[in-house]
Amino acid sequence: MASNTLDNSSKARVVVLISGSGSNLQAIIDQTEQGQLPIEICAVISNKDNVKGLERAAHHNIPAIVLDHTLFDSRESFDLRLQEIIDAQSPDIIVLAGFMRILTEAFTRHFEGKMLNIHPSLLPKYTGLHTHRRALEAGDKEHGVTVHFVTSELDGGPPVIQARVPVLDDDTEASLAARVLQQEHHIYPLAVRWMAEKRLEMRDNKCWLDGEVLPPSGHQY
Ligand code: GRF
Repeated sequence: MASNTLDNSSKARVVVLISGSGSNLQAIIDQTEQGQLPIEICAVISNKDNVKGLERAAHHNIPAIVLDHTLFDSRESFDLRLQEIIDAQSPDIIVLAGFMRILTEAFTRHFEGKMLNIHPSLLPKYTGLHTHRRALEAGDKEHGVTVHFVTSELDGGPPVIQARVPVLDDDTEASLAARVLQQEHHIYPLAVRWMAEKRLEMRDNKCWLDGEVLPPSGHQY
């Protein structure tokens, strides 16, 4: 397998944070195993136990850690412990893949420029929750997904890449979400690859790919 031709020292170390199904995690694992991503997933961390994403990690022999947020008495204390656990892995890239937590400013600052998130809307539209429902209610003809750098602003860091999908007349929240999710599985591994290849960086609150500033909505997939 091509990924084995790189020794671990030349692979970017990646920590993936999840809260649920982990289908984006799976897309990243699959591309890594197919030799398309020069990364080593050194840990998967979930704030919830017994989620499918943890099974996926176990299935691929990736170390998994559960850090239950309900056992902490404040957002700050949880984020601090999470930060320590992530730092112990010395990661180059932190991937938030369906990690359903609002993060403290101290945490986001600590990992600024190294942490990516995927958000199921065409940011800056529909930050926060229920994005598919809101796109349907607004009568949007187009919807989509954005990978962005994480800053202290919720879903507000600079977009790296966006994929668009049509909204169909008979769409439900579920059918639209499924169409968007398919695109997620293309664009998230690609953004991780750009990071791993050191082609992508955040500077002056903008994204730069191969030394060129990306448009405000990111690369259009
Ligand atoms: C995705 O829709 C992602 O955009 C959002 O949470 C969902 C996670 O899905 N942030 P999965 O856990 O990767 O399957």
